[in-house]
Amino acid sequence: MSKGTGAPAAPEAAATGRVTKWLVGIAAVAMLAGLLFGYDQGIIAGALSGIEKDFRPSTLVIEIITSWVTLGALAGALVAGTLSDELGRRRTIILAAVLFAGGAVIEAAAPGSWVLLVGRLVVGFGVGVASVAAPLYASEMAPPRLRGAFVSMYQLAITLGIFVAYLGTQELAAADFSWRLMLGLSIVPGILLAVAMFPLPDSPVWYMKEGRRKEAAKTVHDMRPHADVEADLRAITDGLGTKQVSWGEVFTRTWRKPLMLGVGLAILQQLTGINAVIYYADRIFAAAGFQSAAAQLTATTWSIGAVNVLLTFVAVAFVDRLGRRPLLLWGLVGMGVSLVAMGASFQWLDDGAVANATAAGQPTTTAIVLLVAMMVFIGSFAFSLGPVVWTVINEIYPSTVRGRGVAVATAANWGAAWIVAQFFLSLTTWIGEGPTFYLFAAMCVVSFAFVWFLLPETKGKTLDQIQQMWLGRVEGGAGAAPTN
Ligand code: BGC
Repeated sequence: MSKGTGAPAAPEAAATGRVTKWLVGIAAVAMLAGLLFGYDQGIIAGALSGIEKDFRPSTLVIEIITSWVTLGALAGALVAGTLSDELGRRRTIILAAVLFAGGAVIEAAAPGSWVLLVGRLVVGFGVGVASVAAPLYASEMAPPRLRGAFVSMYQLAITLGIFVAYLGTQELAAADFSWRLMLGLSIVPGILLAVAMFPLPDSPVWYMKEGRRKEAAKTVHDMRPHADVEADLRAITDGLGTKQVSWGEVFTRTWRKPLMLGVGLAILQQLTGINAVIYYADRIFAAAGFQSAAAQLTATTWSIGAVNVLLTFVAVAFVDRLGRRPLLLWGLVGMGVSLVAMGASFQWLDDGAVANATAAGQPTTTAIVLLVAMMVFIGSFAFSLGPVVWTVINEIYPSTVRGRGVAVATAANWGAAWIVAQFFLSLTTWIGEGPTFYLFAAMCVVSFAFVWFLLPETKGKTLDQIQQMWLGRVEGGAGAAPTN
């Protein structure tokens, strides 16, 4: 597929924004970036026991191997903002893919813990860069009415990646060198991402920022052959203002509101506990009476992994029809209620029963209540906070500061993910499992208020209209009342 050879779409397809073969390419990029993010999130739990056997690392080193990938991602996300503005979205994504694949090779070949750690950091860095650049690219390339669906596909792929990682853990657990294979396999999405990105153009927004009008026009035309190219480019130029922006501009008063919304949502997505459940599901099931490792893994794979994938489809289907706000608000209700149920099942149900049933190899009532509650939790996250937070982060910033704004919000997301991964287990030993889940539930209440009072609806608006909203020129600006 070369840049200019895209077959023209049927006129009505262009008019309605129906998916052309170029858009399939962009969807593939978003999906592959999500896949490598998710696979990486999901696989480490399964790889750990093999690593422990081979390297006998201290507990501290194990924690570092698990969680520093997140710190690498945080650094990658921060740098990615500048990279996607300076190098362009396309080259940044290719760089991320190469880093990710290279890191996977280092991990798989590591002779000891410290080289493994270097591999983890490189992989993390690649994931972080991709987690900014890929959804940003998708949101700038997608027609407005499909933008939510495109960015949600990124989330869908994250969930698929996690699910594949869980399945892989089950399948590969018996093989020799299994952990090397588990980690090394992530080279596949890395290479595919580079290959998928290679023939695609950069986004028109970036070309215009660079003063490369001809390429911008050609890209708009290739993507939507019947679009009014001049009008599109004018809208982009209007949105751009000056070409070079500094970090200072990202933090100016004008953009404080979208910055605060993006960063706030990014942090709340993590502080409501999703990764505590993803990373530590096996242990949570063990604590609730699922006795064997196999039983824990099966419960995790299907109740967490599969439900996460399935319910994300709901968001892909409805985020552009129902809007961002209703999905977020309903999802938060489901998450809050199920977290309270999880807390209660840990706290109030009989611990003696857990011990007896565990000895008899039977799941306890606690286990069953917990299983259902966890499924409701993950399902509610999957159609709301998971995809919608990424969608909103990638559409609310004005084009001048978009790369850097998305980077700050994404880095905040990784930072919060690191805090949860690092402290969740300590918190459960310190205040107990029940109260820990109540704490996550309390964060759902905070998030509900945040969305209800502060987040305006952005469904169906062009990126330019959203930008105008912050300047108070279009209805639905700051502090808009709920619209759905
Ligand atoms: C979050 C990840 C999480 C995943 C679960 C994403 O939106 O950012 O931290 O692991 O969803 O599906």
